[in-house]
Amino acid sequence: SAYSANVNSLRELTDFTIGVAVSNSDSPTYNILSNASEKAVVEKHFEQMTAGNIMKMRYLQNVQGTFTFTNADAFVDYAKSKNMTVHGHALVWHSDYQVPDFMKTWSGSSADFITALKTHITTIVDHFEEKGNVASWDVVNEALSDTNPSTFRTDSTFYEKSGNSAIYIEEAFKAARAAAPQTTLYYNDYNIDQNNPKTTKLIEMITDFQARSIPVDGVGFQMHVFMDYPSIANISAAMKKVVDKGLKVKITELDVSVNNPYGGWPANKVASFTQAAALAQKKRYCEIVKAYIDTVPAPQRGGISVWGTTDANTWLDGLYKTEFNNEKISWPLLFDNNYNDKPALRGFADALQGITCTNL
Ligand code: XIL
Repeated sequence: SAYSANVNSLRELTDFTIGVAVSNSDSPTYNILSNASEKAVVEKHFEQMTAGNIMKMRYLQNVQGTFTFTNADAFVDYAKSKNMTVHGHALVWHSDYQVPDFMKTWSGSSADFITALKTHITTIVDHFEEKGNVASWDVVNEALSDTNPSTFRTDSTFYEKSGNSAIYIEEAFKAARAAAPQTTLYYNDYNIDQNNPKTTKLIEMITDFQARSIPVDGVGFQMHVFMDYPSIANISAAMKKVVDKGLKVKITELDVSVNNPYGGWPANKVASFTQAAALAQKKRYCEIVKAYIDTVPAPQRGGISVWGTTDANTWLDGLYKTEFNNEKISWPLLFDNNYNDKPALRGFADALQGITCTNL
């Protein structure tokens, strides 16, 4: 019989927000509005959803001046009908597949580009403010580089069209704040949990924004992490730096891949999801959630969201397709291919309940 983590409802184990990313019109199979298994697991355990794709830039304004809210509205309304909030994701993101063509091919002035970007943000934020259950936004996603030292990302339509300038970041926050005075505004990024040069650049940017009253309320740590990397010490130290700035910390996209295609690969490959792997992952989930609770004081907790429900629908299978030779061996989420609980769910719950993290 299927494993049970013995968790009635994850969200009921804590005061801070427990969320999940879901598919919608971007996936016929896993559409939260039509897949009964998705609905069941989401409604049981979570109180907030992030749209995995459909609130990204080109989904809402593919053609300049034409905003298409139909799918996003159905999603946000569904959340509302289940008393769930939505974490809006993402107003500004460089990743090519979702940047509208009119922005990529912009040939006007940088001042006009900033105006167009602000129109994008204002129109979208205004629209969802009326619904009332979009609690927070990733205003800018992934604007920092992975180099040492880290800089503002230059391989970005936004950087280039702003006149090779990072000015678009603060303009985005100002526009979002003007449209949504009460909504929590996040800067969101990956690898900042490594307590590395990118973390340093993040803190430098936050310090500068605060000195100049640029409105940013929190930092989203994506946390697409591995079993052994980054260390809990580094995750905690990185979050502490944000806490010390007085900002909220939200884990926005948590998943924990069992296999790591970097250092040691493929010698250390885990070929099947054994009991030992499942229990090690349980402990790892517990330690991450515990680090969050230990490091972030309650008033600064924006919550924790996982990036998907079932392992069968993880984005990591696509991301590591080449490295993993098409094998689906990340198994990074809380529920297995059949929506059964995994020990990882028990590990998450253990941390919320103050139970020691173990691989037993
Ligand atoms: C991913 C989605 O999950 C995929 O379906 C899509 O193909 C690519 O984007 N960081 C982010 C998310 O902020 O928007 C990304 O989502 C995962 C990495």
